[in-house]
Amino acid sequence: MAEIGTDIAKAAALLDQGELVAIPTETVYGLAANALNPEAVASIFAAKNRPFFDPLIVHISSIGEVEKYASAFPEKAQRLCALLWPGPLTIVLPKKPNVPDIVTAGQGSVALRVPQHPMALDLLQRIPFPLAAPSANPFGYVSPTSAEHVNNGLGNAISYILDGGKCKVGIESTIVEFQGETAKVLRLGGASPEMLASVLGEFEEELHQNSNPTAPGQLDKHYSPKSKFVLEGIEEWDMKTIKTARLRFKSFLSDLPIEHQYILSENGDMNEAAAHLFGMMRDLDNKSYGLIIAELLPEQGLGRAINDRLRRAAAQ
Ligand code: TXA
Ligand code: MG
Repeated sequence: MAEIGTDIAKAAALLDQGELVAIPTETVYGLAANALNPEAVASIFAAKNRPFFDPLIVHISSIGEVEKYASAFPEKAQRLCALLWPGPLTIVLPKKPNVPDIVTAGQGSVALRVPQHPMALDLLQRIPFPLAAPSANPFGYVSPTSAEHVNNGLGNAISYILDGGKCKVGIESTIVEFQGETAKVLRLGGASPEMLASVLGEFEEELHQNSNPTAPGQLDKHYSPKSKFVLEGIEEWDMKTIKTARLRFKSFLSDLPIEHQYILSENGDMNEAAAHLFGMMRDLDNKSYGLIIAELLPEQGLGRAINDRLRRAAAQ
């Protein structure tokens, strides 16, 4: 298992040597390496068992660093970043040649993000390179929202986990691609569509699990729990014979035992629901239920990003 600690200088030294370090962010934990060191980045793919066609997000310390790695920074993108960074927004822009191909899967664009976590920002300010970091989970499993989650999934593959506590947002960043002033949302996430609209006005959505056009739809099933996972009201199940759990938004069902019902937010707060989502999915998975039935949230605010994760977990 990996060493877990809060030593930012140690994390910086390991990264400088080309090692992998798991880092906290406000969305989920990332598995970080020096983004400018192709060999270090290659070991991210190996540790996660991630296909090389799925590009990585490059984490930077401030908006001022965008132009080191992107060849264009459209005005709308600048305004969106000014509103939401540090925070759960990733922007995709045309890349500069200094970003290695392994980071971008050979594409002409690079994904950039300034995370909002004091330890991640402190770390990024200490090191003279940006950090490539996908979520710190084995490929295809739910993203980790605590150091313990990281250790359970990847503890044997990494030497150090920087422990920044539980992730406050709890779902991955929203990804917005810019082609000139035209914005396209590629992944729903911690920045709500309403927040995006406040800067972008209308925008397109093209929700893919991975962005490589040569591999469309390959990753539809994602966030996959081990138990059978279905959506409430969508299928019929034979519940008499199997141990069943419910994952609900805010209220218990009166005709079922309470101990088998997991409530994302009793106040009906979508931020709280997002923060609890992946941890509850993990807890449920560890309790060896035969069937997990999840309730979809209202399709607004973070509810859309949460529903996206629930649908992927339920994908066949
Ligand atoms: O919240 C987050 O975004 C977390 C934390 C660690 O920052 N990271 C994360 O990384 O979720 P990952 O690798 O699990 O998801 C990154 C997504 C992938 O679906 C990838 O296809 C997309 O970002 N992506 C990366 N570079 C891209 C690019 N140049 N164009 C389009 N999509 C890109
Ligand atoms: Mg991921």
